[in-house]
Amino acid sequence: MDRIELSKAKSFKGTFSATPDKSISHRSVIFSSLSKGKSVIKNFLRAEDPISTINAFRALGVDIDDTGDDIIVNGNGIYGLKEPCNVIDCGNSGTTIRMLSGILSGNTFFSVLTGDESLRTRPMGRVITPLRQMGAEIIARGENKYPPIAIKGGKLQPIKYASPVASAQVKSAILLAGLYADGETEIIEPAKSRDHTERMLPAFGAEIKVDGLRVKIRGGTELKGTEVYVPGDFSSAAFFIIGALLIKDSDITINGVGINPTRTGLLSALKEMGADIELYNIRNLSGEPVADIHCKGSADLKAINITKEKIPALIDEFPVLCVAATQATGTTTIRGAEELRVKESDRIKTMATELKKMGAEIEEYDDGLSIRGKKELKGAVIESYRDHRIAMSMSIAGLIADGITTIKGINSVNISSPEFFKILRRLTS
Ligand code: S3P
Repeated sequence: MDRIELSKAKSFKGTFSATPDKSISHRSVIFSSLSKGKSVIKNFLRAEDPISTINAFRALGVDIDDTGDDIIVNGNGIYGLKEPCNVIDCGNSGTTIRMLSGILSGNTFFSVLTGDESLRTRPMGRVITPLRQMGAEIIARGENKYPPIAIKGGKLQPIKYASPVASAQVKSAILLAGLYADGETEIIEPAKSRDHTERMLPAFGAEIKVDGLRVKIRGGTELKGTEVYVPGDFSSAAFFIIGALLIKDSDITINGVGINPTRTGLLSALKEMGADIELYNIRNLSGEPVADIHCKGSADLKAINITKEKIPALIDEFPVLCVAATQATGTTTIRGAEELRVKESDRIKTMATELKKMGAEIEEYDDGLSIRGKKELKGAVIESYRDHRIAMSMSIAGLIADGITTIKGINSVNISSPEFFKILRRLTS
């Protein structure tokens, strides 16, 4: 059946391991594929998006083997890719298409990148503009805005680029293109986006310097294969954290969650709301901070104001934060979040529409929304818009609503956390 039904949960209890991080899984395959020699990737996320990245590099001639435990990549270096004999399908994955655009800009062959219906509506000008400045020939549909993107790369020149958007996909695309340029390429962001590329690429031998919002890479450096252990995904853990906070009598522990500060804006927001969350056993895994997270039902959450500078560190948690806001005392306002309109769905609109169906009081703005709290939600039939974070967030809303909530279109959702519904069932039974 292409739908899932949820009803009010009495409690949310249990201990489990976080599912592997999606952003870091992508990067582990990308950087290994550009390296000379063997890389071993442990705890890789076998979900549709990172698998699109594996398939893309296989199409570019890289030998990638999934042993069932590890992913083994035998790369031939940054100049070891081959011209693909067909269009590369990046599926639903913005990270795959944007980071690949940077790499292919430095390769002399011809390539075309496309994706599914949703990816083909997502803005690509943000990578095409700087990559053209570096010397790549790129054209794309809709006056160079949308996939398919056709690239004929070559020798690139370094640039110093002030990006108009705080986006790790844009930053990473430029840094990867910078590997193919002589000299130093620099990107300056308007606010700090996730820094997994800056943390992981040096482990493969890249020369990267970070100074606040400025990141520089030296071109021409050879990358060498290594071993990467992918930590747990904070964004996937976020659904369970909010579920536990909102369901009375809850008590959960999630082990091995990545707590990179460029990703955990939601934790700071929830703490400000008065949530009962504890981090312990903090350690380091492949250059990323990791912790076990314990949280309990918190009946007295308070509304907060989220402003533009806080958005990048909680960009993917916006949908589930909206669910928490419906239960807080007061009105929560989230502004400066216009980037949410160009994700897998227009997440400002889709969250407002679906939560309103359940009785939430929401006002929508161009760049965000405000949500009146302490609302009793009631079950409804919910659309998932083929957007995994909408489907998962609305499932959490279903667990606190009276009556039955039905999430439609679940089979077409590219779930980033394949274990999500299994874990949900375990925690509520
Ligand atoms: C990602 C960066 C973010 C995020 C996406 C994954 C990444 O996108 O929303 O889910 O892996 O670099 P932007 O960089 O476009 O903000």
